[in-house]
Formats: sequence, structure tokens, C-alpha cells
Amino acid sequence: MTIETLRVELGARGYDIRIGAGLLARAGAEIAPLLARPRVWVVADRAVAARHWATLEAGLAAEGIAARRLDLPPGEITKSWDRLREVVEWLLAERVERRDLVLALGGGVIGDLVGFAAAILRRGVRFVQLPTTLLAQVDSSVGGKTGINSPQGKNLIGAFHQPSLVLADIAALETLPRRDLLAGYAEVAKYGLLGDADFFEWLEEHGAAIAGGDLAARIEAVRRSCAMKAAIVARDETEQGERALLNLGHTFGHALEAATGYSDRLLHGEGVSAGCALAFELSARLGLCAQEEPSRVRAHFRDMGMVTDLADIPGPLPATQGLIALMAQDKKVLDGRLRFILARGIGQAFVADEVPEAPLRAVLDDALAAR
Ligand code: GLY
Repeated sequence: MTIETLRVELGARGYDIRIGAGLLARAGAEIAPLLARPRVWVVADRAVAARHWATLEAGLAAEGIAARRLDLPPGEITKSWDRLREVVEWLLAERVERRDLVLALGGGVIGDLVGFAAAILRRGVRFVQLPTTLLAQVDSSVGGKTGINSPQGKNLIGAFHQPSLVLADIAALETLPRRDLLAGYAEVAKYGLLGDADFFEWLEEHGAAIAGGDLAARIEAVRRSCAMKAAIVARDETEQGERALLNLGHTFGHALEAATGYSDRLLHGEGVSAGCALAFELSARLGLCAQEEPSRVRAHFRDMGMVTDLADIPGPLPATQGLIALMAQDKKVLDGRLRFILARGIGQAFVADEVPEAPLRAVLDDALAAR
């Protein structure tokens, strides 16, 4: 079995990202060196546990590691104060100690929630990310951003808390519904769009293979995505500068997610793909890049069958001014000014500190009119 290893170079808080097929089955061997006692606590997405628990439990048991588990419902709604309390109280009731290890089994929702619970439990216990969605494998499990949502906006409550290890089992993607796979693929494409035109070209060539289940293509897509993220996080762990580029498409995306009530109408990654398309449209509108660039982005997303335009989002959406108001809650707002990640072309994103409202309104007006 090919296992790729990347290192997130953060000194004493550095850790490995392991990428390969079958890592859940050998989780015991991977985790054992980190344990002070042969016991772990797993917080899982219930739907993911139904598919992968037997494999993980056997993998842990093979190394004599006992595991206790708490299941939570799938969906963004789980990233809430109530579920945070449930996880923390469960871990306390289980007498989890600071030297212990908590495992997060699932997608970005579980990883963010459990990471945050680990950050605040006894002022910080260690945790391991076991991401089972493409989105979590290439983005949310790496880099230590943890947290929950507020009714006022996404990820507004949280902490930086790096995991001790990330095990990205590519075999888990085999049972991932296609909709979730494509939502995660938006974050893969994001890396090409923000900083690596060659990678975007590679994705244009291999996207169909990735969606179709080609293992080598999937490993390569996750490896290149994680390598880029690991390098950016190592240079700018707490997002004082460059890390903000990873939010390409997210200002639009978060507003769309809020507008759709964080519901099944729009998955996070779907908000990101629609958001990336809008960020490129806005960049062209501002004269930063040629119109061919957003057209090329949208063409690839369309070929992949991804959520690309606002017309792909079912149900009502607020008017332009309503969407702009939702963007103003974004964490990237500084002194009330809207900050966007824009691009001078594919692979050339930058942070734009003061985006005038008129072109933004025009882009949203057009996008809404096309619904
Ligand atoms: N998902 C954006 C970041 O980790 O910075």
C-alpha cells in the first residue's frame, strides 16, 4: 500500500499528514506511538460510523487499543453550542485526561467540532483527525482551525488547535456520496485557482478520473492539496497574511450558506465552488483578469457537474443587498471594509483589502438575474 507522508512544520506543534488507502484499518499502528495508555475516545458522524467503525475498531484492537465512541448526527447543524457541550461533557464523564487522545471520525463538521472540544477540554487535549470526506482530507483536517457556527455566521466561535496526526484514508472516499465528493473537489480546485496554475491544468485533465474513483489520481489530488496547505500553514499558522488565500471563494460561499440556513440546500463545498466562480467574475469585473479566466473556471466546474452558478442553488435567495449584509459578518471584515480574495488569473490569488461595492453589486445582480 502506498502511503504518502507530509509534515506540517510547526516546531513542537508539528505533525504528519498520512495519505493512502486503508489507513483506518491500520489506525492502531499509526496512533499507538502517540498514546500514553492504550485507550482512545472517538467522536463520529453517525453515518460515517455506520460505514467505517468496524474497520477502525478492528484496526485499533489489533494494537490492543480500546475505543469508546460518541455518535453525532451528520450535517452542518451539528457545529453548534449544544453539540459542543455534549462532546465536552461526554469526554469529562469518560475521565479523558490531558495526556489522552481524542479521535475525530468524519468530515469537516466533526473535525472542527471535536478539534474545538479538544482545544478547550482541560485547557487542551491532543486529538487526531480521521477525515473521511474529500473536503476534510484536503482542507479542514489540516491546519488547526477548529470551531462551531453561530446563528450570526459560520465558524465565528473557535480556536487554533493543531491535531497530533491526520490520517486521510483514500479508501473512505469510495463510499462517499457523489454530491459530497464534488463539494470536496471544490476545495481541491481552490488550491490550483489560488496558487498553482499547473495543478489546475492537471485537474482539468484528471478531474473525471478523480470523480470516477481512480485511486492514484485521488491520492495525487489529496497529496498536492495537502502539500500546499501544509506549506501555507507553516508560514502563517494564525492567518496574519498568506493563509487568508485559502479562503478563496469563502466570503461569497459563507454568505450563501447563511442565506440557505446551513441546510442541505447548499453544502459548504458547494458554497465554495459557487464562491470561487463569483470571486473570479468579480476579479474580471474589476479589470484584474481577462473574462476568459472566470469562464475557464466555470467551464471546469460545469464539466465536473459541480454547483457553479447561483441558478444551481435550489429555493429562494436574498437579493443583492441581503447577500452583501451577510458577507459583512465574515471574519475577514476589517474596520467594516469588505475584504475578498481576488485573482489576477488562475493560480494568482491575492487579498484585496478594500473592494468597492458597486462592482460587487453588479456581479451579484447578474448572478441573481440568471437564476
Ligand atoms: N480553510 C481555510 C484555512 O484552513 O485556513
